[in-house]
Amino acid sequence: MGKFEVLDHPLIQHKLTLIRDKNMGTKDFRETVNEISTLMAYEVSRDMPLEDVEIETPIIKTTRKQLTGKKVAVVPILRAGLGMVDGILDLIPAAKVGHIGMYRDETTLKPHEYFVKLPSDIDQRQLFVVDPMLATGGSAIMAIDALKKRGASSIKFVCLVAAPEGVKALQEAHPDIDIYTASLDDSLNEDGYIVPGLGDAGDRLFGTK
Ligand code: URA
Repeated sequence: MGKFEVLDHPLIQHKLTLIRDKNMGTKDFRETVNEISTLMAYEVSRDMPLEDVEIETPIIKTTRKQLTGKKVAVVPILRAGLGMVDGILDLIPAAKVGHIGMYRDETTLKPHEYFVKLPSDIDQRQLFVVDPMLATGGSAIMAIDALKKRGASSIKFVCLVAAPEGVKALQEAHPDIDIYTASLDDSLNEDGYIVPGLGDAGDRLFGTK
């Protein structure tokens, strides 16, 4: 089973409380989601491998650490996932960005990909799949299915708020992936919203309703 971690750094928790407030406007919401995403990227990248390299400081030659291993790609699930991308890129600026969009056919209830555009070396990369809300887990499961179908094997799913139902469903469907969230909330309501949650993350990020 992959990791499940609630990232409880005080700055993350504080900023998450701020964005839960229904009175926070679009500009502040977007900026704070960016900040939380940067802080989460710092925590999520904690296990990145390092290698020794020889360098020459102005004083002596020495052997020090640098990042090695797989390069990163950030994959937002459209549309709300877009809100987390810039904050992660602030910390990992060389990461590539793939996009994945899905809808569920209203009659067949079957998932359909309507947009998938990924770096060509997706199979070589460490993927950070991002979506602020892990509610039922449906879109995360479908997105990860779509990525694995294209060769992805190293996946971390990063969200701001998760419902227990979504975590369970995602872990059952994809036991190999790591899941990181800033909060494990109480439940889902009958409309599929996370409780207490923060409302519709896409609408709050983009000012739509
Ligand atoms: N998607 C959202 O944006 N919010 C929720 O609470 C659940 C799903």
